[in-house]
Amino acid sequence: MILDIGDLRELARRRIPRAIFDYAAGGAYEERTLLRNSADLDAMTFRQRVMVDVSNVSLETTLVGIPVSMPLAIGPTGLAGLFHADGEILAAKAAAACGIPYCMSTMSICSIEDVRAATGKPFWFQQYLMKDRGFNRELIERAAAAQCSALMLTLDLQVLGERRRDPRNGLTVPPRLTLRNAWDVATKPAWAFKVLFGKRRTFGNLAGRIGDSSGIRTLSEWTATQFDPSANWRDVEWVRSRWPGKLILKGVLDTEDARLGLAAGADAIVVSNHGGRQLDGAPSSISVLAEIVAAVDGRCEVFFDGGIRSGQDIAKALALGARGALIGRSFLYALAAAGEAGVAKAVEIMRNELRVTLALTGTSSVAAAGPHMLRL
Ligand code: GLV
Repeated sequence: MILDIGDLRELARRRIPRAIFDYAAGGAYEERTLLRNSADLDAMTFRQRVMVDVSNVSLETTLVGIPVSMPLAIGPTGLAGLFHADGEILAAKAAAACGIPYCMSTMSICSIEDVRAATGKPFWFQQYLMKDRGFNRELIERAAAAQCSALMLTLDLQVLGERRRDPRNGLTVPPRLTLRNAWDVATKPAWAFKVLFGKRRTFGNLAGRIGDSSGIRTLSEWTATQFDPSANWRDVEWVRSRWPGKLILKGVLDTEDARLGLAAGADAIVVSNHGGRQLDGAPSSISVLAEIVAAVDGRCEVFFDGGIRSGQDIAKALALGARGALIGRSFLYALAAAGEAGVAKAVEIMRNELRVTLALTGTSSVAAAGPHMLRL
């Protein structure tokens, strides 16, 4: 029975090799911030309100001007296509069918063009600032050619927070069959057949396009050799000047950076600590959300990620002023568990949880969500 995201997580654990599962599940260093993200959400309590007409709780809203069926987007995650064959294509299809945006990561297995050709629908595209700014330019042009409806620039990954599970598990892209993982892989035959020996197994947006990239096998090598540690706000303005559409800046955890992001021309910022995958010891995303919303003061939209595993979690983020939430791990578990249907299931689970949570806090629409829903 699949009743919550935890059920999808368990299914995922059984269906994909440990190295892939752990790539999603893990965080940086001691994983303190990863744990804090969920712990701080869990510690919040709602105000239960009764006898309010909640016969028609509306979840519809807009994110950067795009109508959505609920305030949720699938956030950019690397390697989705290793969680399920054609993972990014399936994600984009499921998201379009559910009426929410899908944000494709630069570090995807399918390419921008693959997803565009398979879905024919607009999606969001995420990028980092690379040392080869020509490659950024090319990615922006490819995203524009694919009619991507927003560009999300990740700000918090100039250097990589070490995810220690990855080297311990021997995670590589493309994945390799080794003596050490042979038993693990042998017990996941469907995955092995479709992904390990499948058609798309490596970084679809990068392979062959970045000079000197042959022989790079891990995300840490990619980051160290290709991502630009000298990137700064002037580079964000440069991206802003090249991209005519909506620009979303992801990875803001400080009010000062929120102001600088606004000045650089953001249409939205994502309050995020990269799911506890970068600066271990940083505060949970939820603990800084309200102060960032206050600093932004309505001048751009504020999205939220970090620990969203249920509709209740989305409701908590909305109550503190987020316009919408992004899911990363919840999405990858669902994708690994059951492909496109799994992703649709995860969204439906969260949709129902959010609707009921709004109703039981006496909140008749997403627009009416606010701090009154919480016992602060
Ligand atoms: C990539 O952005 C990752 O967090 O692995």
